[in-house]
Amino acid sequence: MINKMKLAENIYSIAKVDDRDVPFHRLTLTKGTTYNSYLLNTDKPTIIDTVDISFGKEFVDSLKATIDLMKIQYIVINHTEPDHSGGLGSLASQAKNATIVCTDKAVEELKEMYKLHNRNFLVVRDGDKLDIGGKTLIFLETPYLHTEETMITYCIEDKILFPCDIFSTHIANTEVFNDLAKYDIFEDFKVYYTLIMHPHRKHVQYMINKIKNLDIQIIAPSHGFVLRTEINKYIALYDELSRNTSTNKSAVVIYSTMTSNTKKLSQNIVEYLAAEGISSSSIDVNKTSKEEVLEKISSSDIVLFGSSTRYGDMIGSLEDILKELKAMDLSNKLLAAFGSYGWSGEAIEVIQDYLLETNAKVLDTSTVIKSTGMSDVAFPIRVRFSAKEESLKGLERACEYIGSLALNAI
Ligand code: FEO
Repeated sequence: MINKMKLAENIYSIAKVDDRDVPFHRLTLTKGTTYNSYLLNTDKPTIIDTVDISFGKEFVDSLKATIDLMKIQYIVINHTEPDHSGGLGSLASQAKNATIVCTDKAVEELKEMYKLHNRNFLVVRDGDKLDIGGKTLIFLETPYLHTEETMITYCIEDKILFPCDIFSTHIANTEVFNDLAKYDIFEDFKVYYTLIMHPHRKHVQYMINKIKNLDIQIIAPSHGFVLRTEINKYIALYDELSRNTSTNKSAVVIYSTMTSNTKKLSQNIVEYLAAEGISSSSIDVNKTSKEEVLEKISSSDIVLFGSSTRYGDMIGSLEDILKELKAMDLSNKLLAAFGSYGWSGEAIEVIQDYLLETNAKVLDTSTVIKSTGMSDVAFPIRVRFSAKEESLKGLERACEYIGSLALNAI
């Protein structure tokens, strides 16, 4: 069913209530969920987010009963995942005068997902404002909450924050507002934060910093309840939990370097892991005794092995260490391979082969994608020549992922 409710003057939630066991990122949402879209029926009618792709037609048919779709001027897409942008294809085909408003990163995705190559897009950046005829929207970019292209939208006049996934709950509620809920939703709200947002807690802190000076009277997310009471309690939970970055885990980065590029990567990894609350150090395997390296492996929770590639292979004495691993009990450890290379980077793959022969948990891209949906985190970590801005960003994201595993006891 589609559930409509007035939030403020000319602002309505239009929610698809999905009370099935909803499959989601290899979880099952046993309490179902809702997909909340919002209509701001101003002089320049605006839709903020849509519904899941399975319900696009139902959503558009319901919207038609409320507004002439040809009058819609803007469709704001805060986040491109199909549970929110999924109605865009159906809507855009009938709301032919609407401009699609999103971040730069979202444009290409939406064009490809919904065949919108010939539509007008308005790309917005942090702090941009949009007059929608009697109301003003501000856009704030919130990358990695929980995907790279995400933003949130704030309506100045009505003091409503539209944060899409952020501040959501997965419940197939029909009461719309949190104060009308039949039970205390706080635990479900916390579970949602833990599953979806906490792996990106550093970015949660950036988001909190961006909204801290906004006067927010209502939080209108895209799943579950609209929050209109105890707003500060919900924001404070995100703030408090995302500050918790310390772990009791330790890491060691063991490297063998030819031109110092892999050494610099090791230093970067130590720095990024430290930012995740993981106590970390690095060891040049060629300047340290074998016994000392093996002892460090035994006493660490996380071990990264890196080498430059020369003549298609590792350099130095790293392989002497790798040959020992299979005989060790590494069952509670997390291992990863990395390296700088110039041509093909075979050494990194050979290291990975050694790691896969152990009884440790070995990081690989396939597992990351399947378990989190993140497609910008890759293992083994491969950097061509010296690390530049883009590869450092990838390295930092990889370390954030390791940090999220460390919090979950690996
Ligand atoms: Fe609710 Fe990221 O989708």
